[in-house]
Amino acid sequence: MIETIRKLVEAYGPSGHEDQIRALILEEIDGLADEVTVDALGNVIAWKRSGREGAKKVMLSAHMDEIGVMVTHVDEDGFLRFTGIGGVYASTLIGNRVRFADGTVGAIGVEGDMNRKPALSELYIDVSDGKNRKPRIRVGDAAGMVRDLVVRGDRLTAKSMDDRIGCAVQIEVMRQLSGSPNDVAFVFSVQEEVGLRGARTAAHAVDPDIGIAIDVTRTGDTPKGVKMDVKLGAGPAIKIKDSGMLAAPEVVALMEKAARKARIPCQREVLVRGTTDAAAMQLVRAGVRAGCLSIPCRYVHTTSETVDLNDVQNAVKLLLTLLKEPVRV
Ligand code: CO
Ligand code: ZN
Repeated sequence: MIETIRKLVEAYGPSGHEDQIRALILEEIDGLADEVTVDALGNVIAWKRSGREGAKKVMLSAHMDEIGVMVTHVDEDGFLRFTGIGGVYASTLIGNRVRFADGTVGAIGVEGDMNRKPALSELYIDVSDGKNRKPRIRVGDAAGMVRDLVVRGDRLTAKSMDDRIGCAVQIEVMRQLSGSPNDVAFVFSVQEEVGLRGARTAAHAVDPDIGIAIDVTRTGDTPKGVKMDVKLGAGPAIKIKDSGMLAAPEVVALMEKAARKARIPCQREVLVRGTTDAAAMQLVRAGVRAGCLSIPCRYVHTTSETVDLNDVQNAVKLLLTLLKEPVRV
């Protein structure tokens, strides 16, 4: 699974600029689904059909987009000012590198003294090449962070575990799932980081009986971390509540039952700040019973998002077990 994860987490794809990551996902799932479509927003919807009359429809959704930055102003010396795409923290950016769609890599600098907490407006991107005064980059161009995947024993660190690790889980489930009695739509959604936009239109099209988002969640297991009972390596987390959604109890029960059956550890998650595609799925049409299976992740929305491979593999097992039986809700 590591090689798929590596490709996914190192790929470019800030919200609204998912062409490259989408092409990669389409390649990875080639031949694994009965039907694959890309909708107007750019969501990938891959169906595995049961062939059964009256089968329930299950929608899984992992978002392919990542946080990033967008150029707002190019000054006379070619330095780029920018705004965030999704929740980027200024304190994590100085000295980091970003890559634009055309491959141009820039370094992030800060005005004046480095020894203080900067505002985003005090940062700039340096794409100078020593030759051309005007860069090729224009206002409106978007960049993602640059980082290679690091594998340290069971721990994986990368720039966009959020939510390429969810995409990797779905791809692995697609690879291993042979015959579900449910019609399963694997959605690789766009524009999650700017407001769950892709999942909303995809859920409207899929019209699922139940929806499950696969995404990262925060943990409480770091020095002076928030009081939160989720930690790395203790199993995937079954979301009960986050700031955008109360999970449907039926979906929570389905996932807990699947974890017991598969004999894998899992954790119950209440996340105080943040939400997932499940919040959007829940509110389409006349409402959808929705929940979320989370991969515990340290340092979310930094270039060093860190997960435990055992949690990832156990999430795959949980979903395979859940999908093997007809879902009843
Ligand atoms: Co995120
Ligand atoms: Zn996410």
